[in-house]
Amino acid sequence: MFDEIISFIRDTCRQKNGSIPLHAPTFSGREKEYLTACIDDGFVSSVGPAVERFERAVADYTGAAHAVATVNGTAALHVALLVAGVRPGDAVITQAVSFVATANAIAYCGARPIFLDSDRRRLGLSPAALEEFLGEHCRLGDDGRAYHRASGRRVAVCLPMHTFGHPQDLHGLQTLCEPHGIALVEDAAEALGSFYGRRHAGTVGRLGVLSFNGNKTITTGGGGMILTNDAELAAEARHLTTTAKREHRWQYHHDRLGFNYRLPAINAALGLAQMEVLEPLLAKKRARAAAYRDFFDARGLGWVQEPDGCRSNYWLGAVLMADREQRDAFLAHSNARGVTTRPLWGLLHRAPMYADCVTDSLADSRWLEERLVNIPSGVSL
Ligand SMILES: Cc1ncc(COP(=O)(O)O)c(C=O)c1O
Repeated sequence: MFDEIISFIRDTCRQKNGSIPLHAPTFSGREKEYLTACIDDGFVSSVGPAVERFERAVADYTGAAHAVATVNGTAALHVALLVAGVRPGDAVITQAVSFVATANAIAYCGARPIFLDSDRRRLGLSPAALEEFLGEHCRLGDDGRAYHRASGRRVAVCLPMHTFGHPQDLHGLQTLCEPHGIALVEDAAEALGSFYGRRHAGTVGRLGVLSFNGNKTITTGGGGMILTNDAELAAEARHLTTTAKREHRWQYHHDRLGFNYRLPAINAALGLAQMEVLEPLLAKKRARAAAYRDFFDARGLGWVQEPDGCRSNYWLGAVLMADREQRDAFLAHSNARGVTTRPLWGLLHRAPMYADCVTDSLADSRWLEERLVNIPSGVSL
């Protein structure tokens, strides 16, 4: 059966020989033109028109009222958590099924992650797990905020991640967060082009974050974006990402501990060209996902499908194997034949720096970890 899968992936990717990457960037638009213009006008760094234009393009596409560009998605997450009110000693509830940056951004704020279980179908933070955790392990303080009973930590933020671009149950999570005074922040790093109902991923919570790393649907080389509908939070995020420098034509006054997190114009120029081809790239990715779905469904293998009522960008296609043994055999077989496949990230609570963090049973996260394999998902135009 593995050979049949490999040959189907090769046919679908139209690549009979050579190695097929998991997700390579596609440069088929005006990238060179915009980069040249950027160099010609001399604005390659943190000032210049390209960054603002890129921010506007992303805000327009996602429907976010404000977009603040950053050097990468991790920096965007760090600052989004800070402006959402995460302080040293706080706790942030997130999922164990994620890339390490999700937890690292929490730790950069001096807070600790609490890792809860993922939904088997959506692959992200389970509202049922959140409900159980809040009910059994948290109390509501006099200030209307939730506190984790055992550690005494305030639960400042809930940070779901839209795994492989599949939108999480934001309504279910929001309904639980609101009465507990917990701010919802979305790690939408993988989800540009994904919609929860009619709303773009990352625009439902108080803040959301995108990544434009080279392995994402579109790339700026390195880059990220903070999305929010709140003008004050956007202004604070902009201030913090630009070394907290007070505006003045020549003086240098920095009124807080800020960060040099602003996206350089040269990266924004690349992003502008990539935004112009986003729709055709998404259309191709959807067509690829539909072909994969038909193939895997016909063979009784679990293709991870976009949730009902949502539109996924299908950033990385995911298949659920029968068990760990079959997963490992398929990973070995496919990678040996030049078809890049990857298992799920190791669950975050096992990383040494997070080994002391609070978790629930993570039963479904472990189930997913044993079975899930990502398959080649990049497209070209
Ligand atoms: C879920 C998730 N969060 C955060 C990030 C961090 O983004 P970046 O690599 O741009 O720092 C990534 C990916 O790269 C990611 O997949």
